[in-house]
Amino acid sequence: MTLPPYPATRLRRLRRTPALRSMVRESALSPADFIWPIFVMEGTDAEEPVASMPGVVRRTVDRVGAAAREAWALGIPAICIFPYTGMEARTEDCALAWSPDNIANRAIRAIKEACPEIAVMTDIALDPYNINGHDGFVENGEIVNDRTVEALVKMALVQADCGADILGPSDMMDGRIGAMRAALESAGHSHVTILSYTAKYASAFYGPFRDAVGASSALVGDKNTYQMDPANSDEAMRLVERDLGEGADMVMVKPGMPYLDIVGRVKREFGVPTFAYQVSGEYAMMQAAAQNGWLDGDKVMLESLMCFKRAGCDGVLTYFAPTAARLLQG
Ligand code: PBG
Repeated sequence: MTLPPYPATRLRRLRRTPALRSMVRESALSPADFIWPIFVMEGTDAEEPVASMPGVVRRTVDRVGAAAREAWALGIPAICIFPYTGMEARTEDCALAWSPDNIANRAIRAIKEACPEIAVMTDIALDPYNINGHDGFVENGEIVNDRTVEALVKMALVQADCGADILGPSDMMDGRIGAMRAALESAGHSHVTILSYTAKYASAFYGPFRDAVGASSALVGDKNTYQMDPANSDEAMRLVERDLGEGADMVMVKPGMPYLDIVGRVKREFGVPTFAYQVSGEYAMMQAAAQNGWLDGDKVMLESLMCFKRAGCDGVLTYFAPTAARLLQG
């Protein structure tokens, strides 16, 4: 058999110039794709760096309004609040979790006052307030489900009262979405959305985050009885179906980059608003390599974020949000 004297299909033809490449580009990345996670702490007019997350700071509540305005000006539609809590905030009954005056709830109000347009997202789990660092109550060494759900519902209602637009249950208890949705409806918060941390894996990539929020020394044991096994994919589909059925508006896969196959499956099988969390460890790896001159930091940041879009994400929670938005705005 004789081969033709030229390749039948020359795919390189469409890669030849920037104009041709832009015509056939299948995905797009913009600041509107980002949710920016920020860390808040007690005190006034201060910021401190998070050692394991170069470029990320914890800021006092009086500074979150300015951060939100900056994000909104960059075209970022949502900001997500995480509280830094010391041992003094942690108790066995986790009562501070549903206090309207805890730092996370004060931060919601501060952002809504300074920048009412931006969507404020919260985190719902007991870990910042729990003496043992777990997302649920611990009884006889076990993380108990139903009593935890009652507490999570209290957190959700207070956050909604404070003005939160998007609630983010990150606890992985069973039945929490339905319980929250019902409570929100009867409390007059039917407009408040839920972005469920639906497929949240028990991941070692959360290490730097636990430093950032003061949880590393608090955590007793691991989270393997409630967060997912990284080996599982079908189970994530069952969780998505369950959470949607209970009233979740949007779903999330977490971590991000090593789990893009899950994102792709969720988007293809359900066609619902799908988000991913590019978590602290993913951020730290890229920043560490960039600081050593081993990777081009800006390029890997934008490439990684584009890959979330290609995989099927409607948006991504990323600590790079303001930096990436600035680059995208040129
Ligand atoms: C806690 C929570 C965690 C993250 C978000 N919410 C940590 C955990 O489950 O231990 C991790 C985020 C990150 O690593 O960037 N419920």
